[in-house]
Amino acid sequence: MNSQIVSLLTMFLFLVLHLTDSLDTLGPNDTLKDGDVLISQGSIYSLGFFSPGNSSSRYLGIWYYGQPERTVVWVANRENSVNDTSGVFAFDHYGNLVIHSNNGSVPIWSTNVSSMTSNNSRVARLLDSGNLVLIHDLSKVVIWQSFDYPTDTFLPSMKLGWDLRTGLNRFMTSWKSEDDPAPGSCSYELVPTGYPQLFLYKDQAPYWRPGPIIEKRQGILAKMANDFIYNITLVNNATEVSLKFAVINASVLSRYVVHESGLVKHFMWHDEERRWTEFNYHPQELCDYYSKCGPNGICGANNADQFDCTCLPGFEPKFPGNWYLRDGTGGCKRRQGWSMCQSGEGFVKLRQLKLPDTLTAHVDVSLSLKECEQECLRDCNCTAYSSANESMGEYGCLKWYGDLIDTREFSDLGQNLYLRVDAIDLARYRKRSTLVNKAMVTTISVSALALLLLGSLMYCLMSKRKRDTRRRNHNVSVTTSLTNFDVLTGLKDFNREGRPKTDLPFFDFGTVAAATSNFSSVNELGQGGFGSVYKGMMNNGTEIAVKRLSKYSGQGIEEFKNEVRLIAKLQHRNLVKILGCCIQEDEKLLIYEYLPNKGLDSFLFDETKRSLLDWGKRFNIAYGIARGLMYLHQDSTLRIIHRDLKPSNVLLDDTLNPKISDFGIARICGGDQIEGKTKHVIGTYGYMAPEYAIQGWFSIKSDVYSYGVLLLEIITGQRNTGCYHMNTFCNLIGHVWELWKKGQCMDIVDKSMDKTYSEKMVYRCIQIGLLCMQRYASDRPTMSTVVFMLGNADVVLPSPKQPAFIEDSDYNGDFQSAFNGTCSVNGLTITVGEAR
Ligand SMILES: *[C@@H]1O[C@H](CO)[C@@H](O)[C@H](O)[C@H]1NC(C)=O
Ligand SMILES: *[C@@H]1O[C@H](CO)[C@@H](O)[C@H](O)[C@H]1NC(C)=O
Ligand SMILES: *[C@@H]1O[C@H](CO)[C@@H](O)[C@H](O)[C@H]1NC(C)=O
Ligand SMILES: *[C@@H]1O[C@H](CO)[C@@H](O)[C@H](O)[C@H]1NC(C)=O
Ligand SMILES: *[C@@H]1O[C@H](CO)[C@@H](O)[C@H](O)[C@H]1NC(C)=O
Ligand SMILES: *[C@@H]1O[C@H](CO)[C@@H](O)[C@H](O)[C@H]1NC(C)=O
Ligand SMILES: *[C@@H]1O[C@H](CO)[C@@H](O)[C@H](O)[C@H]1NC(C)=O
Ligand SMILES: *[C@@H]1O[C@H](CO)[C@@H](O)[C@H](O)[C@H]1NC(C)=O
Ligand SMILES: *[C@@H]1O[C@H](CO)[C@@H](O)[C@H](O)[C@H]1NC(C)=O
Ligand SMILES: *[C@@H]1O[C@H](CO)[C@@H](O)[C@H](O)[C@H]1NC(C)=O
Ligand SMILES: *[C@@H]1O[C@H](CO)[C@@H](O)[C@H](O)[C@H]1NC(C)=O
Repeated sequence: MNSQIVSLLTMFLFLVLHLTDSLDTLGPNDTLKDGDVLISQGSIYSLGFFSPGNSSSRYLGIWYYGQPERTVVWVANRENSVNDTSGVFAFDHYGNLVIHSNNGSVPIWSTNVSSMTSNNSRVARLLDSGNLVLIHDLSKVVIWQSFDYPTDTFLPSMKLGWDLRTGLNRFMTSWKSEDDPAPGSCSYELVPTGYPQLFLYKDQAPYWRPGPIIEKRQGILAKMANDFIYNITLVNNATEVSLKFAVINASVLSRYVVHESGLVKHFMWHDEERRWTEFNYHPQELCDYYSKCGPNGICGANNADQFDCTCLPGFEPKFPGNWYLRDGTGGCKRRQGWSMCQSGEGFVKLRQLKLPDTLTAHVDVSLSLKECEQECLRDCNCTAYSSANESMGEYGCLKWYGDLIDTREFSDLGQNLYLRVDAIDLARYRKRSTLVNKAMVTTISVSALALLLLGSLMYCLMSKRKRDTRRRNHNVSVTTSLTNFDVLTGLKDFNREGRPKTDLPFFDFGTVAAATSNFSSVNELGQGGFGSVYKGMMNNGTEIAVKRLSKYSGQGIEEFKNEVRLIAKLQHRNLVKILGCCIQEDEKLLIYEYLPNKGLDSFLFDETKRSLLDWGKRFNIAYGIARGLMYLHQDSTLRIIHRDLKPSNVLLDDTLNPKISDFGIARICGGDQIEGKTKHVIGTYGYMAPEYAIQGWFSIKSDVYSYGVLLLEIITGQRNTGCYHMNTFCNLIGHVWELWKKGQCMDIVDKSMDKTYSEKMVYRCIQIGLLCMQRYASDRPTMSTVVFMLGNADVVLPSPKQPAFIEDSDYNGDFQSAFNGTCSVNGLTITVGEAR
């Protein structure tokens, strides 16, 4: 309000003082004093002196006009402030724009363009794009522009990158702090060497890389462009290497900011709420960090050790010791005995990657992919190649030499990389892929068709909000007949070689029946959506838990066995271990390790036992669950979505280490195995993400939602059902959200915890919980981000948007109708677990 009045006043004064000039222009004889402002023609930006944050120093800058809080997008004298209000902005005798203070003779800042034209024919104009231009008044030639000297903000129509004729490099640098706009430790630059790519540097070291900018499928850039909001243009020719983005709806204000903490954030202006919302930020996941897995390693591919790094095919860890300590930064070296020069080598195709660092890559846009293969094969130093332009089929040739650095796998986008492997590896992979292909051919065509149908259906249904749910035909591979190619169906399969093969024991039905006293109700531990669980005691005294699956049909015995075998291979300290299974006629049993401490619910919601959980224990439990879930989501061979995460499905061992149970059940029971839409909504009221409960859309993000609910329950010791506050929303999430908005969310923390906890940490966890429960799946973090946020207390968290909860009026009607018929409404089968 005040600032608006002030700017109106200054505008008025300005009008009085400069009747002849327009508000956006500074003429050769004009001066702009501290307190005066220029305003762009469409009243979008203003320029003047300001003091950042709590500082009293004065800087000349450009900010958005008429917004409640001043958001500065450009600063002239970043490094040299005016210490009082004596600053003056005007032309000097040579036609340069300068800032003087205290009538000093030496300017503290200057545009510093050598004089080319007659000085008094220049004017400075603030454009509606936020660009301050110095132009020759008659010829309209732009002599200097602020867009060529970005500070920490990248605006639409601005260019990032190089003018190769003049050597001008336009890049962003963070402010040192909120109070000091001087260049800080982070910069975001377009690096033209090899093949152009963007780099975020922190303290001069590469910190994050969105990946090479490849036509059409631009990897993360496309994701940043966020489905048609932006339009990114790369120019790469002899005179210019630059990147530019344009907002398709020009009336939407938008900006990228590089922040001192090492984040590139993307903000959009929310017109109705009159505030900025953070739309996206990077780096986001552990695998985003530059070279997390060292040379020739690949990140984002969880193998059985819940460790993000694996080696590219044909490579092995360079320092296996560190590798097993979960430090992959040493990278990978060639497997022993490799031979790579004209001795029968070939290429394997890796899918959905962020391509390796292209600093030493070589590009030739005139070649086809086939020619590229030949070129790379001929040159023994060429380690990999890929297409440089995917806009019209794959075209262009991008070749790598030497080590491949900073490769990662994505779950939903990315490019193909063709990696050189020797004859031995080639033979091995070819054999594997033909084996897999035989088994998959039928499922492929069926599921491809299903995917196609699903895809189009989804597209219609979700219209704009389609970003996150559409995913992953990842493991579904198409056959090709290219001679030197091989098709990989899942990278990690190959890295598992050498692991001991754990085959799943099959138990005899009689033995299990005896162990559980013929499934007597005395031994029953509980009931869930898929059947009952019994405690058992084997002859040798080993205690077991037996899940007796209800008679679900739809799957043959071999398929069932296969699924159980796969699930049983998932081993992690935060997952309940499957010991074996048992099949007899209609009976299907799963045998698990027995955990005497029962479910988390039996502690959390029990008046006496809950006090056993102090903050330290609760945090460990929350962290353990997050890691277990991350493992399920990221194990690339299966990518399990739990779909029914809740306290009773988290068991505690005798050291209160949490173990997720019931994972993969949906899969074992023949539920839909790809992400997408299901008719069988399996889950528990109160923990289900709205898009899953109502529409049946499930994805890893619906698990993230459930995790958020669980996290808040752990902090509050209350269930997310039932009334907690008569005046506000009738559930926990709504209540927490109300308190969060008022800044009182610490009120909800479980009183039975002694006060030894760090308020900051608890607050942070509440914030993470709220981030997980955000209404739109695309806004929710992935589990790896959650683990990262939990584990790194100094990482700045985004502010959560409104969570989805049942009382949400938009969802209410749908929810009611979805739940009224309990068992089967319009073909929807809903198994709603009781939330006792
Ligand atoms: C600026 O001042 C000079 C000298 O006083 C005068 O010749 C010139 O016309 C003025 N220019 C403008 C645009 O008013
Ligand atoms: C400004 O000072 C106040 C009070 O000392 C503090 O709470 C606030 O965080 C400071 N703001 C910045 C941007 O430093
Ligand atoms: C403003 O003060 C800072 C330090 O207090 C000093 O370095 C700088 O030179 C001063 N600037 C001017 C224009 O006097
Ligand atoms: C133009 O620049 C010359 C020096 O190049 C200077 O002598 C002259 O005074 C300037 N004219 C004005 C109007 O500033
Ligand atoms: C700057 O100096 C000139 C003469 O040297 C004087 O006329 C003018 O008033 C001074 N301005 C300020 C702001 O001190
Ligand atoms: C202007 O440029 C010259 C050389 O190009 C440089 O020495 C000088 O420091 C610059 N001045 C300012 C204020 O940037
Ligand atoms: C994308 O941007 C370019 C210039 O930056 C513009 O010419 C083109 O029309 C834009 N495309 C769309 C679809 O807006
Ligand atoms: C490079 O591209 C820019 C922008 O499209 C264009 O202005 C320039 O003339 C091009 N240069 C060459 C050598 O093609
Ligand atoms: C562009 O954005 C404005 C403001 O958000 C909105 O009112 C308008 O409908 C949008 N136009 C289009 C074509 O989407
Ligand atoms: C491969 O690299 C080595 C050393 O880096 C070099 O000596 C050799 O000439 C290169 N071979 C080819 C075919 O480029
Ligand atoms: C990519 O290929 C398309 C079609 O062949 C072409 O129009 C476009 O200019 C190419 N882009 C680059 C960056 O080479």
